[in-house]
Amino acid sequence: MTQQPTERPADRSTGQPAGRGAPSGDIVLEVHDLRVHFPTNDGVVKAVDGLDFTLARGKTLGIVGESGSGKSVSSSAIMGLHNPQRTKISGSVVLNGVDLLTLSEDQMRKRRGRDVAMIFQDPLSSMHPYYTVGNQIVEAYRVHNDVSKRQARARAIEMLARVGIPQPDRRVDDYPHQFSGGMRQRAMIAMGLINDPGLLIADEPTTALDVTVQAQILDLLQDLQREFDSAVIIITHDLGVVAEMADDVLVMYAGRGVEYGPCKEILTHPEMPYTWGLLSSVPDVQGDTAVKLVPIPGNPPSLLSPPSGCKFHPRCQHRDKVPGDLCRTEEPLLVAGQRGPGHTKRCHIANPEDIYAKEVLPEVEGVAEAMHDLVEESK
Ligand SMILES: Nc1ncnc2c1ncn2[C@@H]1O[C@H](COP(=O)(O)OP(=O)(O)OP(=O)(O)O)[C@@H](O)[C@H]1O
Ligand code: SF4
Ligand SMILES: [Mg+2]
Repeated sequence: MTQQPTERPADRSTGQPAGRGAPSGDIVLEVHDLRVHFPTNDGVVKAVDGLDFTLARGKTLGIVGESGSGKSVSSSAIMGLHNPQRTKISGSVVLNGVDLLTLSEDQMRKRRGRDVAMIFQDPLSSMHPYYTVGNQIVEAYRVHNDVSKRQARARAIEMLARVGIPQPDRRVDDYPHQFSGGMRQRAMIAMGLINDPGLLIADEPTTALDVTVQAQILDLLQDLQREFDSAVIIITHDLGVVAEMADDVLVMYAGRGVEYGPCKEILTHPEMPYTWGLLSSVPDVQGDTAVKLVPIPGNPPSLLSPPSGCKFHPRCQHRDKVPGDLCRTEEPLLVAGQRGPGHTKRCHIANPEDIYAKEVLPEVEGVAEAMHDLVEESK
């Protein structure tokens, strides 16, 4: 488990290189009270509204949540990709001791790709169609390294070979459309890791790929993470991916973290009804068609005017376990779970372990077992 946010002050002044050589286990990223709001004609869209997590070198954080919960907006904030004219961002994003939110666009540009890199769901839209794959990797390398084109090309070929592109010295001159989807994602990973960033953010990196290629890409990411000892954030809808890849899990709902802790804890002893809902809506884990799929009723709330109290209350099937009207009137704080302080959740229910064991587990037993096995296998 990575640690809870600490009071370590950020170096807001120097803009020095971000200590990528930090030893494994050291905290690389501390996100505290991150808020990303978009003022629009209809009001303010509170896409991310108070997010806290930390991540250590060599560790993987899985971020899960339904569409629109703020997963990509948070990662774009970490990458400094939002337009400052149209976005209100507050809180802190401390990467190796430097609060990225205090940096100028120029200072941020120097770090993007070198200290933090991102790979996206669809590499076709993030690669330029008019430049060869090799040229794009060479450019990504030369932005941060004072080397000749020839040296950079040799490094690009080396990285393409490392991510499993066959005949890399020939394929380096292909255009993106000449690569298959899986090969493009491999090339994106090569480009993301070529500068050995301390933090790699993978936003739905395998969603567009078929199951076999997806498994290969996830294996590759895990191998490379061990080799490069980077911290990784993997954003996904797929709890199976989380179980296989993540050390910690952050469950997001309506722009907030609603449950957070070690992967095994969250997937096998979840305490928040929304996480229970995610588990019961996992389709056909390990191909068992007997596992019943129960989607969470209703839709995610509007981020322009979210519900009062617990943001999940209009959809929650367990709010009768909370006395009075508390779920509707008072937003639960993020507090320690029943099994220890490393596990936090936002929910008023006093005895979630009991309810999970008696009411939820019988419904999600197959999924829970599959998650448990995946977590154990991934160790
Ligand atoms: N520039 C913007 N202006 C206004 N609203 C925005 C803007 N960018 C994102 N949003 C809104 O912020 C919310 C969160 O979006 P985000 O892309 O982070 O969702 P997500 O969790 O990544 O979803 P998905 O799983 O579909 O990728 C959405 O409601 C989205 O419409
Ligand atoms: S606080 Fe109430 S509405 Fe929210 S998840 Fe818990 S029980 Fe459900
Ligand atoms: Mg997204």
